[in-house]
Amino acid sequence: DIKIYVQEPSGDKTPVDAPTDMGLSLMEVLKASGYPIAATCGGMALCATCHIEVLSDHELPPPSDDEGYMLDSLPAVTDNSRLSCQVRLTPELDELVVKLGAGD
Ligand code: FES
Repeated sequence: DIKIYVQEPSGDKTPVDAPTDMGLSLMEVLKASGYPIAATCGGMALCATCHIEVLSDHELPPPSDDEGYMLDSLPAVTDNSRLSCQVRLTPELDELVVKLGAGD
């Protein structure tokens, strides 16, 4: 397992254990950990409720066209915005730091 850190509004970072051998997305693990992600589309890059911002300098695989279109439609995105349902958990993402929701 790897550890993902969620930066809370207070600035505290909450560690979340994430298995990398089950083909899970970051959205699935965040949701299972109790974070309020509606994931209305079920992880199809269509609802953007799973929007996160990557705060650490990990190199993630680039967004697909579908993810890119959806991100472009959001009011507040940064270069580090992603749809967490499109981020597959891999060992390379150990100690990834993310923030839920739009960038500010
Ligand atoms: Fe809908 Fe990610 S869960 S876009």
